[in-house]
Amino acid sequence: MHDAAALADALTEAEAKSRLKELAAVLAQANTAYHRDDAPDLTDAEYDALKRENAAIEARFPALKRSDSPSDQVGAPPSDGFAKVTHSQRMLSLSNAFDADDVRDFVAGIRRYLGLSTDTPLAFTAEPKIDGLSLSLRYEDGQLVTAATRGDGAVGENVTANARTITDIPTSLDGAPDILEVRGEVYMSHADFEALNTRQADAGAKTFANPRNAAAGSLRQLDSEITRSRPLKFFAYAWGEVSEPLADTQTGALDRLESIGFQINETTKTCKTAQEMLDHYASIEEARAALGYDIDGVVYKVDDLAFQRRLGMRSTTPRWAIAHKFPAELAWTTLEAIDIQVGRTGAISPVARLTPVTVGGVVVSNATLHNEDYIAGRDANGAPIRDGKDIRVGDFVQVYRAGDVIPKVADVDLSKRPDDAVPYAFPETCPECQSAAIREEGDAVRRCTGGLICPAQAVEKLKHFVSRAAFDIEGLGAKQVEAFYLDGWIREPADIFTLRDRYSQGMHQLKNREGWGEKSAENLFDAIDDKRRIPLARLIFGLGIRHVGEVAAADLARHYTSWTALAETVDASAEAAQAHLRAEELILAERKQAADEGRRANLQAQRDMAWANTPEEAKTAWEDLIGIDGIGATVAVSLVTTLKQRRERDSIERLIAHLDIQAPEARASESPVAGQTIVFTGSLEKMTRAEAKARAESLGAKVSGSVSAKTDIVVAGPGAGSKEKKARELGVRLLDEDQWLDLIGDG
Ligand code: IVH
Repeated sequence: MHDAAALADALTEAEAKSRLKELAAVLAQANTAYHRDDAPDLTDAEYDALKRENAAIEARFPALKRSDSPSDQVGAPPSDGFAKVTHSQRMLSLSNAFDADDVRDFVAGIRRYLGLSTDTPLAFTAEPKIDGLSLSLRYEDGQLVTAATRGDGAVGENVTANARTITDIPTSLDGAPDILEVRGEVYMSHADFEALNTRQADAGAKTFANPRNAAAGSLRQLDSEITRSRPLKFFAYAWGEVSEPLADTQTGALDRLESIGFQINETTKTCKTAQEMLDHYASIEEARAALGYDIDGVVYKVDDLAFQRRLGMRSTTPRWAIAHKFPAELAWTTLEAIDIQVGRTGAISPVARLTPVTVGGVVVSNATLHNEDYIAGRDANGAPIRDGKDIRVGDFVQVYRAGDVIPKVADVDLSKRPDDAVPYAFPETCPECQSAAIREEGDAVRRCTGGLICPAQAVEKLKHFVSRAAFDIEGLGAKQVEAFYLDGWIREPADIFTLRDRYSQGMHQLKNREGWGEKSAENLFDAIDDKRRIPLARLIFGLGIRHVGEVAAADLARHYTSWTALAETVDASAEAAQAHLRAEELILAERKQAADEGRRANLQAQRDMAWANTPEEAKTAWEDLIGIDGIGATVAVSLVTTLKQRRERDSIERLIAHLDIQAPEARASESPVAGQTIVFTGSLEKMTRAEAKARAESLGAKVSGSVSAKTDIVVAGPGAGSKEKKARELGVRLLDEDQWLDLIGDG
């Protein structure tokens, strides 16, 4: 095993910082694997060694201690996790029904099993299936003695100390059987979940994906004081060992549990027929949005306990009960308002504010409405969607969620439309800066034309700038940036890098802000200083230029290796980009076929003229740009137009003055063409152009579309023209296809 202190001593501050980050991630993952998934991914010894290493580094660099430091996590090492409890009666799970037929089959099957004729009464309870985690509470002589999680059904974890902190769980009972195991669900309400997540986020602690995870994470704390601080609730719905029967029926047993102090779900209903069960299911589904906590279906149970005993169980599920699940990712709720969000590129997006509802296990209170056409009930070509139904504030709408994508409003129930609902009028000015919001031809989206004067665009740009894939400044997240913007401390990225100076000159009162002491301000400034040295790709991405994503930014960085080289090429290609836009207008006009012959001819002439008038230098620069694998005309035009805007450009230049921009590391490669710039021209016979490019790039070469003094190799096939000529003029190494293949070892 390694010596933790010696390891820590060997580290520089930067290495220590990144190691602490790594350790926090590895140990958090190990905790999750162990505590939540019951699937440890480290041995006890490995876990202990990593924790010691973390502590040693923190001892040497106390200032680097993270807010999510593993030393502060109460999640214990595996060796002292929860004690195990063997359930005196197994904790069962339920089989599922997915539609009305499954439910009718369930009822018919039970009648058959019990040999009941169709006119013999057979009642069922129908109660919501609470989406939390199940807990078994054992009372002896009226005192709570153990609380255990379900675990694998046979053996669970002893969480008694934590259960005692939950208000809904009585610690002593009056008038209960001597031995009584009460079973039910621990859950968290939507309101408590939101509040908890807000508190967690404010404290820089982890937030929970949904109320179920929050409930599980809160119950399974080794420090019960943490559980006490979490607002958990409990519904009782079943029982295990009992020294005497609670009642003759499920309904009676629930009443009895309620009378001795437990919370029983009030939407439970006793039903006499399959139809009544299905009707109750429908009414619970409707009520779902307003319940205030998550449910994921309805559980039907045979009411007569003597019948339950006769029916018994299969290996892990009772024959006398079934869970009728809600369809996974759809839910209906009320559209309370339509808000407009302005993105960092000015895109104006309508957001649905909804009465919170659970969709596939996640509470949804916002969903996208895409754009104005979508709200109006038509697609980009004017064809109807949703049968042309528009969406109005006050409507009862269907919310749809797939995986982790942003939920969307999928449908609307016109029968529930309020009489006073009016069609939504999409704004034509930016709600943030009142600039005109314009929709360009061929664009589905309306955009604010305010640029940097629009506060919403400025804030979104800043959020993007500090985001993980961009500058990733520790302690400066979306929330802080927004607050600092409102305070006027940070108006543009460059301001981030003058914060320390302005602070020491007393120009802003960071100290007096809640949560910002002297120490945390210092930490923030250090974190900012850390990012003055920034890889070119992160800088390019961080600028938040429309269409320039992480991949395009990396491609550009690899090709140009410096900001100056990139900016020069972009600037030089401006006129070619302009000509390209003319050509695009023409294509658009042709596609729409709306333009008459005269207009088309005019556009054609404009395009030809634009190209003819474009200086050679601009064409070369443009071709260099769009010749980069992965960079198309859309990205190139966007780069050109952004860098051409004076305000934007000045803001970028002010930023760059504070930075030490790192060229991308050359790809480690043994290949003779690594780092070289290659141009393919003429026709290739052994492979397609795309294949040749990909192969060259995989060997670490840059592939360009135009020949310049910077070109290392031109591969010329038959039919090569001006590029081959230029290569000869410039004395660039010229190869035919076979020579190229020999060079790279593919011959
Ligand atoms: S009865 C033998 N009733 O659903 C019956 N379970 O999928 C045992 N659940 O492990 C369960 N609400 O955690 C029952 N009203 C309810 C329930 C409920 C939620 C959970 C419980 C169980 C799981 C089975």
